[in-house]
Amino acid sequence: MTPSDSKILVWDAPVRVFHWLLVSSFVGAYLSAESETWRLLHVTLGYTMGGLIAFRVVWGLLGTRYARFGSFVRGPGAVGRYLRSMVAGKPAHYIGHNPAGAVAIVMMLVWGAAIVATGYAVYNDLGGELLGELHEGASNVMLAIVGVHLAGVVFASYLHHENLPRAMVTGTKQGQVTDGIARAWWSVALVLVLAVSAYWYLQWRDAPQVVAQAQTSSSGQTTDAAHTAYTAYTAYTAYTAQ
Ligand code: HEM
Repeated sequence: MTPSDSKILVWDAPVRVFHWLLVSSFVGAYLSAESETWRLLHVTLGYTMGGLIAFRVVWGLLGTRYARFGSFVRGPGAVGRYLRSMVAGKPAHYIGHNPAGAVAIVMMLVWGAAIVATGYAVYNDLGGELLGELHEGASNVMLAIVGVHLAGVVFASYLHHENLPRAMVTGTKQGQVTDGIARAWWSVALVLVLAVSAYWYLQWRDAPQVVAQAQTSSSGQTTDAAHTAYTAYTAYTAYTAQ
């Protein structure tokens, strides 16, 4: 940090909102993957991931300086130089994503899209058992990439004495005033939140009694209700899959 450093805005609001919605959707979808009762939640969160990734691709072209792919997606040469600078104990500092972090980020976006695509195909019966296995395997690979991402975030925070997770919340870092972005674009972030909320609401509105009944049924209180709920739930998932 130099004396001229001050608090500057680096991550606009859409990037931050995208990030934390993606984290919540991925974690929720991963945790609900094995349960029949929570199938609709799993599918809803998976499709949310798909929508978020599509949004991020657009924002990567139109967004603010550090959100744009052109500012952080680098070739293997830049990644190698960054890694060598780390090994040499003099890590190059980037205000936006560093070249190595960017590799994990691009992988998470591409791999996330592949998981959504295979999930869609499985849910709509477009493939056999193999596709299901592929979907599950791809999700576990994603978990591994997320693990690398988290390790990278912790390591880079330590190396640069910078709290990167906090910056992903507040959007700000220490830096030269001229390096900051001018606007947070809360209007775009709000549209993103509203779109996701509306989608979740519609999914919830059409599903709750069935899921509630299915839950009652799994507790074994009434077998008739269990049967009805299960039949209704299966019919519902078949209907939404059309
Ligand atoms: C609590 C867990 C997590 C924390 C603390 C965290 C933290 C961060 C931080 C600090 C950055 C910015 C890195 C930089 O400064 O270059 C970032 C970026 C990113 N993270 Fe995470 N992350 C978490 C979980 C996840 C998960 C689970 C995913 C994917 C499912 C994910 C996907 C991404 C993506 C795609 C970016 C790029 C953001 C953008 O430019 O749009 N993160 N994360």
